[in-house]
Amino acid sequence: MLDSNPVPLSEGESNIIRGSGRRIVTAAGAMLADEANAPEWAKAAADAIFDPQQWSRRATAVPAARGRGATWFVGDESRSWVLRHYRRGGFVARFLADRYLWTGEDRVRAFAEWRLLDRLWRRGLPVPRPVAARYRREGPFYRCDLITARIPDARPLSERLTDGELPPALWSALGAAIARLHREGVDHADLNAHNVLVDGAGHVSFIDFDRGRVLADGRWTLRNLRRLRRSLRKIGADRVLREFDAGWRALLGAYASERAAARPADG
Ligand SMILES: Nc1ncnc2c1ncn2[C@@H]1O[C@H](COP(=O)(O)OP(=O)(O)O)[C@@H](O)[C@H]1O
Ligand SMILES: [Mg+2]
Repeated sequence: MLDSNPVPLSEGESNIIRGSGRRIVTAAGAMLADEANAPEWAKAAADAIFDPQQWSRRATAVPAARGRGATWFVGDESRSWVLRHYRRGGFVARFLADRYLWTGEDRVRAFAEWRLLDRLWRRGLPVPRPVAARYRREGPFYRCDLITARIPDARPLSERLTDGELPPALWSALGAAIARLHREGVDHADLNAHNVLVDGAGHVSFIDFDRGRVLADGRWTLRNLRRLRRSLRKIGADRVLREFDAGWRALLGAYASERAAARPADG
C-alpha cells in the first residue's frame, strides 16, 4: 500500500515506509516483490534469482567503483537487472562482512530500500524500478540483497567526467533532479558521483538508496548537496573540468528554481 499522504515530520524523524510490495516467505527469511511478478517467483525457488551463480555466464560483475558493494549485472532475453548483495562498510566490515543485526523485518536494509524505490518510481522520480529484495536470517543476524531494473545505457557521473567537459545542460539537469528528490523529502544519505547515473541522452538517475529516508525539509538538503560537491572534488572534477565552478553554479541555479516552482504558496 502506498503512503500517499506522508505525515509531516520534524527533522531527524524518518518515515519508514511500511507495507508496500508483496511479501513471499523463503527458505531462511522472506522476499519482497511487486504484485505483477510475485506470483511467478512464489512458485519457483525464489532464492535462485538472488544467486549470481544461478545466472551463470549471464551474470557480469560490475566493476566495483568503491570496493564495498558486490554488484552484478544479470539478465536474459527479457530481463536486464542489477543484483546487489549488501555488505558492511567501515570498521565493522572486518567482523561482520555482510551480516546485519536483526531488529525486525521493517528494518531490513534491502526492504527499506525496495520500498523507498517503489514509492519514488511510482511517483515518476528518476530512480531504477525495484524488482525484488530478500533477506536470510542467521541467528541474531541477517544478510540481504536487492534487485533493481538496470538503467539502460547509463554510466556513473564519476566515469562520465573522464570524457572531459560536462555540458551545461547536464549540470542543470542534475540540479533539477536533486530538487525533485528533495521535494519528495528524500534524504539520499550517500549522494556521491558514483551514485548518480547519466545516460546517453544526458538524463540523470539516482541509485543506491541504502539508508535513504523520507524527512521533513531541513538541513539534510544542504548536506546532500555538499556531499556531492565534495565527492566531485575528491575525484578531481575541479581539475578535470575547466568550468567546474560555473557548472556547480548552474546546478545550484537549477536546483533553486525547481524547488521554488514546487512551493504551493508560490502557485
Ligand atoms: N539500476 C542500475 N542501473 C545501471 N547500473 C547500476 C544500477 N544499479 C547499480 N548500477 C551500477 O553498479 C554500481 C554499484 O551499485 P550501487 O548500488 O551504487 O552499490 P555500491 O555503491 O554498494 O557498490 C554503480 O556504480 C553502477 O555502475
Ligand atoms: Mg554506490
